[in-house]
Amino acid sequence: METTVLKVNWDHPEKDKISLAASAIISGKIVVFPTETVYGIGANALDAAACRKIYKVKGRKSDNPLIVHVSSMRMADKIAIIPKRYRRQIESSWPGPITFVVRARKVLPRVVTGGLDTVAVRMPRCRIAIDLINTAGVPIAAPSANISKKPSSTKAKHALKYFMGKVPIIISSKDSTYGIESTVLDLETFEILRPGAFTAKSIKSIFGKSPHIYVPPHTIKSPPRSPGLKYKHYSPSTPLFAYTGDTIIAINEITSGMKNFCFVGSAESCRRVSAPHKISLGSRRRKATIAKNLFAALITLDGIGAEFCIIESFDNKGIGAAIANRIEKATNHRSFSTRRELDALLR
Ligand code: TXA
Ligand code: MG
Repeated sequence: METTVLKVNWDHPEKDKISLAASAIISGKIVVFPTETVYGIGANALDAAACRKIYKVKGRKSDNPLIVHVSSMRMADKIAIIPKRYRRQIESSWPGPITFVVRARKVLPRVVTGGLDTVAVRMPRCRIAIDLINTAGVPIAAPSANISKKPSSTKAKHALKYFMGKVPIIISSKDSTYGIESTVLDLETFEILRPGAFTAKSIKSIFGKSPHIYVPPHTIKSPPRSPGLKYKHYSPSTPLFAYTGDTIIAINEITSGMKNFCFVGSAESCRRVSAPHKISLGSRRRKATIAKNLFAALITLDGIGAEFCIIESFDNKGIGAAIANRIEKATNHRSFSTRRELDALLR
């Protein structure tokens, strides 16, 4: 398939290019586009056949529902039942990096909701995304723009790497502002199903109460509440392990004699760790930067050809909760703090 790459200005999206992408959406095609969290791969949410194509190109399981992106409350009302008691708070959280799980209306094809009677809805802040939805005049169902299980794209070049030749249009623009997906909040239980760019503290300040944090069962006997949680996620091909020891400098001793590994961590830690390959996530003091660089680092990692990779752990505060969650998933909960533990992981 031939892919048209449209370079679009982040702050002032060119109308002609947005119109071209919007007509593709209306005619049932798939468009990759930026949002402030990560790049998305979207289709008309009201068109079941178009949405099925998303599952196909991503290699995504059909029970893992898509997030529906809207550009107005009116549009949200058409596809979802927005609970009256939270309407005001939803309006003040949007547009932004938070997705609400609410009851779905019948117009929404079940392929979008993975067969559930709820739907995840988000109004993005990114101008390009909003203009695209507005111009198309339909809600856009869009998961993150990555092949299933792989790290999400936060840069246009990574979206191109995944989808060149596989979708008709890719909108290429600046890097995503947050670099981590939206927070998913279930409004029926007031639970965070996926920590993300919108912090629990911000939810508390807007809603006046603290959200519960959903902990998915490790051994999956009952289906998890958010279907996506049961699938492997964000994994680079290079085996990745989290270092959970107390001092970063101990990594040098733990890895002594190891020839071909990579270290991913803060700029400060990169300066202290001696590894054959290193990828800096930026200063430890700016967690937003760490979040923004994380997925791109995991994609870069696979180009290095290291035997394995060690990633530093980060605390759980603020956006740190989302960073820690993505690292847990990317490492598949594999961590170490001693040479013995690392050796066991490498066996
Ligand atoms: O920031 C984001 O949310 C990005 C951009 C493109 O908006 N999108 C994104 O979509 O991350 P995706 O498909 O990669 O993640 C959606 C998550 C999945 O874990 C899915 O299981 C969950 O939201 N989800 C979707 N609908 C749901 C529902 N009805 N109930 C519970 N969880 C749901
Ligand atoms: Mg995703």
